[in-house]
Amino acid sequence: MAPRHARTLALLCAAACAAACAAATPDIIFDLSDEQYYAMPQLFALDEWPGCVAARAPYCAGTFELAPDKRPHQLFDVMQRYSANSVDNFNHTRLHRGLCLPRSCAQHAPARDHDLPHDQLRDWFARCVNAQTSAAYNLSASLLRLEYCSRGAAPEPLSASEQAFVALLAVLLALSVVSTALDLVLPDHAKKGAEWALSWSIPACWRALHAPPPSSSRTDLTSFDGLRVLTMLVVIIEHVCWITTQAYLTDTKIYEQIRGSVDVVLMTNSTLVVQIFFIMSSFLLAHKLLQQRRRGEHVPPFSTFIQTMINRIIRVSPSYWVVVWFAASWWERLGRGPLWAPLVAAEAAVCRRKWWTHLLYLNNILQADDKCLIQTWYLAADMQLYAACLALTLALWRVRRAALAVLAGLLLASVALLFGLAYSWQLVPTYVMHRPESVHSPRSFTNFIPASSSISAHCVLVCRSVRLAYKGESSFNVLYQSPLGNVPGALAGLLLAHLQHALLDMDVQLPRYKIFGWISVASVPVAAWWVAASPLALGRGPPSRLAAAALAAIERPVFSFFVAMALLGAMNNIPSAVQRFLSWRGWASWARLSFGALLLHMPLNKSLVAARLMPSMLDRQSAILEWFGVAAVSYMTALPLALLVELPAQRLHRALTMRAPAPRPPRTGAARAPPPPPDGDKSTDKADL
Ligand SMILES: *[C@@H]1O[C@H](CO)[C@@H](O)[C@H](O)[C@H]1NC(C)=O
Ligand SMILES: *[C@@H]1O[C@H](CO)[C@@H](O)[C@H](O)[C@H]1NC(C)=O
Repeated sequence: MAPRHARTLALLCAAACAAACAAATPDIIFDLSDEQYYAMPQLFALDEWPGCVAARAPYCAGTFELAPDKRPHQLFDVMQRYSANSVDNFNHTRLHRGLCLPRSCAQHAPARDHDLPHDQLRDWFARCVNAQTSAAYNLSASLLRLEYCSRGAAPEPLSASEQAFVALLAVLLALSVVSTALDLVLPDHAKKGAEWALSWSIPACWRALHAPPPSSSRTDLTSFDGLRVLTMLVVIIEHVCWITTQAYLTDTKIYEQIRGSVDVVLMTNSTLVVQIFFIMSSFLLAHKLLQQRRRGEHVPPFSTFIQTMINRIIRVSPSYWVVVWFAASWWERLGRGPLWAPLVAAEAAVCRRKWWTHLLYLNNILQADDKCLIQTWYLAADMQLYAACLALTLALWRVRRAALAVLAGLLLASVALLFGLAYSWQLVPTYVMHRPESVHSPRSFTNFIPASSSISAHCVLVCRSVRLAYKGESSFNVLYQSPLGNVPGALAGLLLAHLQHALLDMDVQLPRYKIFGWISVASVPVAAWWVAASPLALGRGPPSRLAAAALAAIERPVFSFFVAMALLGAMNNIPSAVQRFLSWRGWASWARLSFGALLLHMPLNKSLVAARLMPSMLDRQSAILEWFGVAAVSYMTALPLALLVELPAQRLHRALTMRAPAPRPPRTGAARAPPPPPDGDKSTDKADL
């Protein structure tokens, strides 16, 4: 009697459970034992590549979707439920393979195996992987996306763009030789009036690079240089890890396991530090203008706007455009490997398609899904916000006190708008966006592009970029790279500048206020804590819509607030260890190279990863070592870029604009306050990098 009741009860329970489970969201397995984990098929695998292409044998790479041959399939069930935690884990029902067909798939070869058309190679590849997974796991594999099938190709002749790029390099080198020679042999009096001819002089550029940072009286900006360099380094480590996850990994478990630990969350979420660049950029802009206001200079709004924007474009563009041109031309030629085509050649193809959006600083808005030099979204967003902040500062010129209220109101409005957008479009905060598979629109994978549209010399037959970086990811487009998403950082910088000048106007000595001192010193660790801890508040697994939208809306403003507090303390000489560290004079030269490092670290790092012949390893040790390596090489390559392109262009611009001062009417305030020498105000004239 009793056992029968018990059995009925158990059955009822099981039925209720099943109903509940079916109704609930797919139930997630958060942790697997090692044994369970490695029972799943290996996610990434690559055959030997050099030997394959040396024998001119076809090598294919692609992504496969697994499905059980028959249900129930316990292993597949585990794989699905583990993958459902898409915030931390790869999708284990999609396998990524690169195979040398005649070696790994000989028994599935078609009857004729010479000069096979690409669709037969593709079918051979698909049949082979399917046979492997069926035999080993009773799972069938269907080809979801073919990256390429290739026998290795002879390099194509140089394109016109590549030849022109070489010519540019030759011209730059010649200019610097001539300019340096003139600088060394001409007597000083002969150099007067011929500064433009000396723009490319290497010794002069070197001196400009190492010039001591300008010092100012009341507002101490010495910590900005150190902050620039450290922020750049933080950006580099995040990108190092991210790029590695774009390629193939040897052991996915290491990465998935450590992803939730505090140090890794701190690292993953550290792209929030980009807000520091926005804060510094808009702060320096407003600070310079407000200084002019305090000196009583006449600032005509329209011509100031035009002139300031032109200066900025001239400062940023030369090296930026050279790097974009490089990426669209030579980059693709400078390496090879099984993942070179999907990682580098595909990006180079995007660069050839959308380079003009980079020239216009609209690459984050136009063709936003296609990424060429993904980090340059920042330059576009910064230029757009810079123009907006400049216009805003000039518009608030006369309303001194009310300016703070207006800016604060705008900041609140932008946060509310971001929350509304994030909630209605189900956008996610930074940490969730940087998930292992930031590729989530399977619909876009299903159409193979026709064989005729091969996009590069390396993809003989058909080529599609691998796990496309943030393609179709609206959180990236709307929150991360759009000007709108970064408005809070820019407004925080404007607020900071207006606040600082209000304090100067009222002659407030902040160091006298102990409480503010503590707040400002504590702001640095609190900002770091915010980066590391805020994603943990979402809990494990995919976050709820409301929580995700809330964090997406406030993570940047809150971080910016603490950074602004720390900066306010630092610029008012509130002593702290961090301030002393960041104020080291040696940072100045590194800070001047940071812009080049920002441009170059991604192509350098991507080349390194894409040229690997085997899947990469991503754990703490290798991430840290690659971080140092990539950072060192980036700053080293930024040096020639600065000496040959960036600094000469600035010196040329300055020499040309200084040569013709006569046509301008003298400024009204000139008699009372002589304009600063061209170099005097460099700190505020400098872009934020
Ligand atoms: C994993 O990939 C499969 C096949 O592409 C897809 O159907 C599924 O939705 C993905 N799972 C998650 C959690 O994204
Ligand atoms: C696949 O299914 C068959 C028949 O159901 C079974 O005999 C075999 O052991 C299974 N193989 C694996 C690897 O699970």
